[in-house]
Amino acid sequence: PLAATGTLVAEAAAGHRAVAAFNVITLEHAEAIIEGAEAAGAPVILQISENAVKFHHGRLSPIARAAGEAARLAAVPVSLHLDHVQSPELLRQAADCGFSSVMYDAAHLTYQENVAATRDAADWAHRQGLWLEAELGQVGGKDGAAPLSAHAPGARTDPDEARAFATATGVDALAVAIGSSHAMTTRTARLDHDLLARLRGALDVPLVLHGSSGVCDPELRSAVAAGITKVNIGTALNSALTAAVRVHLAADTHGVDPRAYLTEGRRAMARTVTERITALGGADTT
Ligand code: G3H
Ligand code: ZN
Repeated sequence: PLAATGTLVAEAAAGHRAVAAFNVITLEHAEAIIEGAEAAGAPVILQISENAVKFHHGRLSPIARAAGEAARLAAVPVSLHLDHVQSPELLRQAADCGFSSVMYDAAHLTYQENVAATRDAADWAHRQGLWLEAELGQVGGKDGAAPLSAHAPGARTDPDEARAFATATGVDALAVAIGSSHAMTTRTARLDHDLLARLRGALDVPLVLHGSSGVCDPELRSAVAAGITKVNIGTALNSALTAAVRVHLAADTHGVDPRAYLTEGRRAMARTVTERITALGGADTT
């Protein structure tokens, strides 16, 4: 059934677990994520990013409604999250398209601009009953240093700045930069566990790890044990999809039915989802 992100995150936090959030680009992604979560017996978050909306010719509702309908029919709780939103126009569409949460991404702005924009976004989201995640860019963004996405390699979130940011904006969750970076195709990222412990101590809100495709299972598990509650995974599914399609098409150079190779791709994504959820310890073991 369709669930609310805030509920899934709160339940994960109460159980000292994390809920996995996977990025949806096509309907096959949504189907595979749900299939993989059902196999793991765990709730899951379907997230659609602003970049995925751009891919769909700037239109949010077709892919969002399809993903929402797939979520409604799922055997496990599934929520819909709008990810990495920079456009205020897109933000305003969230409530009408079945989302229960949004990640408002103003980390490219200076610290002061990020605070002001995120506070406005959080106020608006809360009036709509939406849960709002935000992110804070590099250490020192406060002093006018060039803003850097929190998930660019080398970026780190400062605990004092993060605490001030969370208080000033009223966000429900914070994405923190602790060593992961977006779009990695190897699982070689090293997390700064000492920084994570300091962030956890400084903040009351749930912490979110982005760029988790590039983080190996033991690192992920220790991040969850140290207080990461939402784990965002995108590229790993695209790697699985593309590799499976490539193998299929290399062997079958004459077939034209997309269902043949998309079946392989979807199956590979579903397997990846089950593996990642199980490795996180998010599967239902009762
Ligand atoms: O918000 C989405 C994630 O941070 C996904 O990152 O594609 O590197 O796993 P990834
Ligand atoms: Zn991200």
